[in-house]
Amino acid sequence: MKVSVCRKAHFNAAHRLYNPNWSEARNNEVFGKCNNPNYHGHNYGLEVWVSGEIDPETGYLIDLKILKKIIEEEVEDRFDHKNLNLDTEEFKNLNPTAENICVVIWMLIRAQLDEKLDLKVRLYETERNIVEYTGPQ
Ligand code: NI
Repeated sequence: MKVSVCRKAHFNAAHRLYNPNWSEARNNEVFGKCNNPNYHGHNYGLEVWVSGEIDPETGYLIDLKILKKIIEEEVEDRFDHKNLNLDTEEFKNLNPTAENICVVIWMLIRAQLDEKLDLKVRLYETERNIVEYTGPQ
């Protein structure tokens, strides 16, 4: 019996999208307002989906208190109220696009999750801009 559970979370963070190997003109052309040198913020929404078999002893797939704690420690403590470009190791040399943030969050949570569980991360940069990552294919 394969089931999926989801834990939702939020964090607020600032970022600037740019490629240091490009000219200012090229950065402005590609990233537009997101290249603002003084940064801008988003209220990121996160859905963390875990799938697998129900444990016959607990009736759980995963104790959601455990998943909540993983998200707090790996994502919220690390990124909430931070400037992603300046304050985090993960994005010092990686453009903090929604795509890259989603993949980084997947890797951080994956490292804390039981190997027998599957993981999918969905990141909402805005209500209309959403990225999903299910791991390397
Ligand atoms: Ni942005």
